[in-house]
Amino acid sequence: MLIIKTIQEYRNQLVKTKKEHATIGFAPTMGALHEGHLSLIRRSKEVNSLSVCSIFVNPTQFNDPKDFEKYPQTIEADIALLVKEKCDILFLPDVKEMYPDGMGNTGKIDFGFSAKTLEGEFRPGHFDGMAQIVEKLLLAVMPDNLYMGQKDFQQAMIVSLLIKKRKLPIHLEVCPIKREKSGLAMSSRNTRLNANDLLIAAELYKTLKAVKSQIKKEQITSTAQAEAAAQKRLQKFNSIKLEYFSWRKVTTLKPIAATPLSEQSVLLIAAWIGGVRLIDNVLID
Ligand code: PAF
Repeated sequence: MLIIKTIQEYRNQLVKTKKEHATIGFAPTMGALHEGHLSLIRRSKEVNSLSVCSIFVNPTQFNDPKDFEKYPQTIEADIALLVKEKCDILFLPDVKEMYPDGMGNTGKIDFGFSAKTLEGEFRPGHFDGMAQIVEKLLLAVMPDNLYMGQKDFQQAMIVSLLIKKRKLPIHLEVCPIKREKSGLAMSSRNTRLNANDLLIAAELYKTLKAVKSQIKKEQITSTAQAEAAAQKRLQKFNSIKLEYFSWRKVTTLKPIAATPLSEQSVLLIAAWIGGVRLIDNVLID
């Protein structure tokens, strides 16, 4: 695996090998890699002749400076995992490389309601910083296919809007959530949970599944009812601080007032456990 730290170096490498590579697949990450990330690399390798992973802990998307400081960094282990997966290139830039003119965001895109609700409401500025770095990474790596995880459901939606708005010739594939045996969605942040919190964190997915099954049985027919059911279930756990639980339309993220629904929907949750913020979601067909 080649480890490349600058955009220029990456471009030089592409020029050298371009003819050998029909398509480039790309999985952007912030490191602390787990099975979820590795599944993106595996998918890329199935489809593309060159697979690139980036690791860059992007300062501009952390609305909470403490979260940035505490973000797990495990670069040696990450490199070993990527080598094992036979990832072709690790793009590993530093802050100066990605933000040569400072971290101001002059090219903000208005993503409308999709970026204002849920994560947008609880993490102000997060999606602006995320979109800012993803655009920079896409322009640097120039992939044909982009792989992102469904766990960050709203993030993937905003990246698909970014691709549309900037008219980038890139296909986004959203890959399924990888889960621990307990059902807990894999996340780099899970490494910050102690054993007890890890057990309790599995309640988030259990709640998503329980509410999904009530929706399927038509016992729940609106976003308000879904939220009330989740709150009731989770209030038993003192260490879970629920930020939101919501049932939304997949295409617009608008709440659901009544059923039957003619479109796909999604249940989304964000909660704090042991000082760590976790998110998860399940699709409802
Ligand atoms: O999902 C992440 O790890 C990050 O938000 C991303 C997409 C790599 C941008 O920094």
